[in-house]
Amino acid sequence: MIEIINLNKTYETGNRALQNINITIDDGEFVFIMGRSGSGKSTLMKLLLKETEMTSGKIVVNDMDIGSMPRRYVPKYRRRLGVVFQDFRLLKDRTVYENVAFAQRVIGVSPKKIRESVPAMLKMVGLSSKYKAFPNQLSGGEQQRVAIARALINDPEVLLADEPTGNLDAHNSMEIMNLLEEINDRGTTVVVVTHSQEIVDRMRKRVILMDRGTVISDGREGGNGYEI
Ligand SMILES: Nc1ncnc2c1ncn2[C@@H]1O[C@H](COP(=O)(O)OP(=O)(O)O)[C@@H](O)[C@H]1O
Ligand SMILES: [Mg+2]
Repeated sequence: MIEIINLNKTYETGNRALQNINITIDDGEFVFIMGRSGSGKSTLMKLLLKETEMTSGKIVVNDMDIGSMPRRYVPKYRRRLGVVFQDFRLLKDRTVYENVAFAQRVIGVSPKKIRESVPAMLKMVGLSSKYKAFPNQLSGGEQQRVAIARALINDPEVLLADEPTGNLDAHNSMEIMNLLEEINDRGTTVVVVTHSQEIVDRMRKRVILMDRGTVISDGREGGNGYEI
């Protein structure tokens, strides 16, 4: 479970990026975070990943209070979260297979286990025929699938995706959303930042709408707008 309580973030510049945010996300949920540019969505993601420090408030992820977490636990904590970004962030000089395997190698998974788990994961994301390709030989949608495979290979409890379809066309965007839904069906909690109204309309999931650093609505989208 993710609990965000009275969370505030003011950057060193004086920019009040988040003001009094309260959000609870249960295990196994699929949640969209929506809002126009500058509304604080990425700041919220960075705080969840402990990439930046909160100004005040509390974030508890799976019973861990990440505000008071000692720095030495942060790498271990981050491994329990899978992360996907708009710009894929793949290793350009490594193959598809190596991009995914690398995430296991760095945490000391055995070569035998890697040889089993990477093909299974690439199959799950629909890239079985692309093991040996390099990122620049793939479409945007395929590159994002590699990034999703990498994010999931160490079996995180939560997948955080910050505008994962921001660089994709409508067709590829829906395919990626369908993949994220499948991952959620397998039990992973999925939190997706998007500013696409079309995507949230089609997916019919919980939508947390942000504006200028605050949550202005939180609910499942029904036929007549938001139902709290
Ligand atoms: N590192 C930073 N330093 C100062 N201000 C920042 C920084 N990152 C983001 N901001 C500001 O915080 C606000 C929220 O930004 P962000 O979280 O990136 O919004 P979103 O992802 O919704 O577009 C914006 O006003 C942005 O300019
Ligand atoms: Mg952003």
